[in-house]
Amino acid sequence: MQPARYDRFSVTLHWLMAALILGQIALGLWMIGLPKDSTGLRASWFNVHKSLGMVLGLLIVLRLAWALLRPRVPAWPQARRLQLAARGAHGLLYALMLVMPLSGFLSSVFSGYPIRFFGMQLPKLAARWEGAKDLLSGVHHISALALILLIVLHVLAFLYHQLVLKDALLQRMRWSDAGRRRAKQTAAPQ
Ligand code: HEM
Ligand code: HEM
Repeated sequence: MQPARYDRFSVTLHWLMAALILGQIALGLWMIGLPKDSTGLRASWFNVHKSLGMVLGLLIVLRLAWALLRPRVPAWPQARRLQLAARGAHGLLYALMLVMPLSGFLSSVFSGYPIRFFGMQLPKLAARWEGAKDLLSGVHHISALALILLIVLHVLAFLYHQLVLKDALLQRMRWSDAGRRRAKQTAAPQ
């Protein structure tokens, strides 16, 4: 039988990553405005961003592997076009959660500056390559804008379910057993 909701591990990863990604986006947008002076403040925050970004990179690999291994969660019972829209949006979110850390990491590799993971210097993987750095920085920037837009759409879709349709969609992304029961009643496997 197909599960009517996400398992606890998927739920944990969803909320943990949602919180970290929102923090990471805010940090990224804030730190690029810091002055390039001799205090080292800009470099310190860049290092925090890179370290957190690498953790997010590992988490998304784990999440994608788990999403492929776990039993498939059936689409929420709603109009076919909404099911397709949700599937497309979730697919794009996954893709961007992968492209963001990858482009950030590779642009940093080609920047020529050493990369530190919470203070520990990683081996130098490549020499400075201006063209590749600029291209990957551009990808990082455009993907960040696309990710922000999709998260806004994702939350709007959630609010539409919560406030307009008043269905139990959120219950599928909750830990509690009460949530489990309600989701089972609302979304009988198709
Ligand atoms: C950085 C922010 C977020 C990202 C990247 C994200 C990503 C995703 C993805 C990829 C899914 C598909 C399920 C999966 O396989 O994991 C999902 C499902 C879901 N998300 Fe988010 N999410 C974010 C924030 C939020 C927030 C803030 C809310 C609500 C306040 C929310 C509510 C939900 C719900 C209810 C589902 C289940 C949808 C369904 O059952 O079809 N998410 N999210
Ligand atoms: C999910 C992971 C990540 C998210 C959501 C994220 C988000 C952002 C955002 C919103 C910005 C500011 C916008 C801009 O690029 O102009 C930024 C900048 C930056 N990020 Fe990330 N980032 C992530 C991972 C990483 C990683 C893993 C690295 C490097 C190891 C990194 C390195 C940088 C650098 C160096 C900048 C400054 C602008 C540039 O030179 O491209 N990021 N990031």
